[in-house]
Amino acid sequence: MILVTGASGQIGSYVLERFVDKHDAVGVDLKPCSIKDLKDLVFQGDLRNYEFVRKIVKDVDIVIHLAAQVSVENSWNDPIYDAENNIIATINLLKASSNVGVDKFIYISSAAVYGNPRYVPVDEEHPKNPISPYGVSKLAGEYYCKIFADKIHTVVVRPFNVFSARMDPNNPYSGVIAKFISRVKRGLPPIIYGDGKQTRDFVYVKDVVNLIEIALKRGENGEVYNVGTGRETSILELAKIVMDIAEINDKPVFDKPRKGDIRRSCADISKARKLGFEPKTDLRKDLEEIFEQID
Ligand SMILES: NC(=O)c1ccc[n+]([C@@H]2O[C@H](COP(=O)([O-])OP(=O)(O)OC[C@H]3O[C@@H](n4cnc5c(N)ncnc54)[C@H](O)[C@@H]3O)[C@@H](O)[C@H]2O)c1
Repeated sequence: MILVTGASGQIGSYVLERFVDKHDAVGVDLKPCSIKDLKDLVFQGDLRNYEFVRKIVKDVDIVIHLAAQVSVENSWNDPIYDAENNIIATINLLKASSNVGVDKFIYISSAAVYGNPRYVPVDEEHPKNPISPYGVSKLAGEYYCKIFADKIHTVVVRPFNVFSARMDPNNPYSGVIAKFISRVKRGLPPIIYGDGKQTRDFVYVKDVVNLIEIALKRGENGEVYNVGTGRETSILELAKIVMDIAEINDKPVFDKPRKGDIRRSCADISKARKLGFEPKTDLRKDLEEIFEQID
C-alpha cells in the first residue's frame, strides 16, 4: 500500500489521484480533502504525533511524503511550528517507516534549499544556502532522509515552482500565477513587484507527479533529483501570457521590489532526465487549460 502525506494539499492530491488508479493508496492530512473522489481515501491526523504515525505506517510499503508547512512568511512568524511540521513530522515518518520495514520513502523537498542561486540552471550539487526557516526545515528533512538511507530506501525530489488548478494564491511558489489570473478575471492588470525580470522555473503539477512516479521506480537510494522544466520564465513574460489569455490589452502595474525576492531560478534537470524524465509543461497551454478553474 502507498501512503501519501499532505494528500489534501495541492500536489499531494494529484499524487494520490495518480496512484489510486494503479495501486492500493491512501492519504493523510491535517485537513479534510475537498476533492470529491479522494475524500474517503484521506484520513485526518497530525504527523507531529509519533503514536499516530506509528499506527498509519503499519501496512504500508511506500511512503510519499509531501505534508509540510509551506509558507515562507509563516516560517518566519513561527519557526517552531515550521520545524515541528517539516522536521519533526519527517523524523516521525522515517523512524516509524524504517521500524516496520517500509520499502521506499520519497521525500518532497524544495528548491528553497538552494537559496539565492549562484548560477543557473541549478544542479543538485549547487551549494545549499536556504534564506528562510522554511528552506532550513526542508533541507533538514533531506539530511534525515540521507542518514536514514541505510535503514530504508529514500529518494528526495526537489520541485521548483509548481502550478496547477488547485494552487493557493498564498503559496510562495506559484501563488503569483493565481494572483495574476484572479486580477485579470476582474479586468485588472497584474501587479509586478520590481522590474519583472526576475525568473522562475514554472512546472506543471503533472510533470512533478511523473517524476515522483519515476523516482519511485528508478530513483537511487539516498539520491536527490530536481524537478522543473529547465526553462526560465520572467514574471513580466508570465504577466503577458496571462493578460493575453484573458484578452486584456493593458500594461502590468509595477510596484516596489519585495525584500529577499530571488532574482533568477531555474532547474538543471539532467539527473532526472537520466532516469527517463522529460518535462511536458507548456506554460501557455497549461495556463489556458486551468484558467477557468481559478477564481
Ligand atoms: N508548491 C510548490 O511549488 C512546491 C515547490 C517545492 C516544494 N514543494 C513541497 O511540496 C509539498 C506539497 O506542497 P503543496 O504546494 O501541495 O502545499 P500544500 O500546503 O497545498 O500541501 C501541504 C499539505 O500538508 C498538510 N500538512 C502540514 N502539516 C501537516 C501535519 N503535521 N500532519 C499532516 N498533514 C500536514 C497541510 O494540511 C497541507 O494540506 C511540500 O512538502 C512543499 O514543501 C512545493
